[in-house]
Amino acid sequence: MSGHPEGRCGIEIVGIGSFLPERVLTNHDLESMMDTSHEWIVKRTGIHQRHKADWENGETVLHLAKPALENTLADAGIEAKELDLVILATMSQEMSCPPTACRLVDMVGAGNAGAFDFSGACCGFVFATNVAYGLMQTGPYNTVAVIGGDTLTDIVEYNTRGRAAAILFGDAAAGVILKKTDDQSKGLLGQAMHSDGSRWAGLYIPNTKFDFAPGDEPDEEQFGLLQMNGASVFRFAVETFPQVIESTLEKAGVSPDEVDHYVCHQSNQRILSAARDRIGFSEDKMLVNIDKYGNTVAASVPLVLNDLHKAGKIKRGQKIMMVGLGGGLTWGTSLWQL
Ligand code: UT7
Repeated sequence: MSGHPEGRCGIEIVGIGSFLPERVLTNHDLESMMDTSHEWIVKRTGIHQRHKADWENGETVLHLAKPALENTLADAGIEAKELDLVILATMSQEMSCPPTACRLVDMVGAGNAGAFDFSGACCGFVFATNVAYGLMQTGPYNTVAVIGGDTLTDIVEYNTRGRAAAILFGDAAAGVILKKTDDQSKGLLGQAMHSDGSRWAGLYIPNTKFDFAPGDEPDEEQFGLLQMNGASVFRFAVETFPQVIESTLEKAGVSPDEVDHYVCHQSNQRILSAARDRIGFSEDKMLVNIDKYGNTVAASVPLVLNDLHKAGKIKRGQKIMMVGLGGGLTWGTSLWQL
């Protein structure tokens, strides 16, 4: 049973696009800012460089999401005013009010399209895509943009204390346009969305002295900065990544070989290699681009999709499995028939 469920409308990914801030921070740049080395970073993560928004001059997630959405619309050959809904998956909202997505809709000229921000940390794009699919099935939304964007480089510390997070994260925005189609074979074949809030202390951003996790000393200087227990997230991810892929495939009746691309959150090269080894699919089915961009949180999955698309590797009729895992902790999948 690998066909699209009957009675549902077909939904197609008709455009893919991205935007990266201009400034690049290489591992060698980081060597001059903290006690680290290019060799350590490459060995532990696979990262060589990451892009960094010019937040000192006001470049926020909105300024990355706008060109990302414009590039995605251009790829789809669709005008902004055709959009019915824009979902911005991000944990880097400019302000808690207004939702950043509202200004995004205004800036691209999408009229009064619905807009909301979606907070799902590194799972944001995968979860938001599943949500968009459900809304399109049940509501009056024919053309929907889902953009993932984040700018964590402004909430990590570029010093020895904060180095585990500082080396990991990069800034970017990327996304897709989803559109209803008469072809019912296209759309979601399977999905999963999970959380375990008891593991929240793996990744969090304290705002008051009451927010610190047990064992973390409350420290005013850390307000607004990312706190990460990398090793505990790493252990959880190595176990969970393959599990969630396998259970999604099983429920959808799709074999690992039938999937053309595993489009995975770029958290760490070692987590991805371990998942691939356990499930046993070939290396060419999982593009890894963490070397160029680092971990770009909600932008990470659509950035992989975009790199595959630009290389001409995304084709009609393929099956793709998108996979996320991150803060919350959250983990999930979105399995598509293109
Ligand atoms: O997107 C989802 C969210 N995040 C993740 O998925 C993160 C998953 N975790 C990871 O990728 C890894 O935990 C890191 C790459 C972040 C860190 O690697 P690790 O092997 O788990 O390092 P660690 O934090 O356990 O630290 C091991 C050692 C420590 O030194 P000692 O105490 O053993 O002497 C750290 O101080 O490595 C040291 N260290 C560094 N050394 C050089 C930590 N960061 C660095 C660094 N450069 N940047």
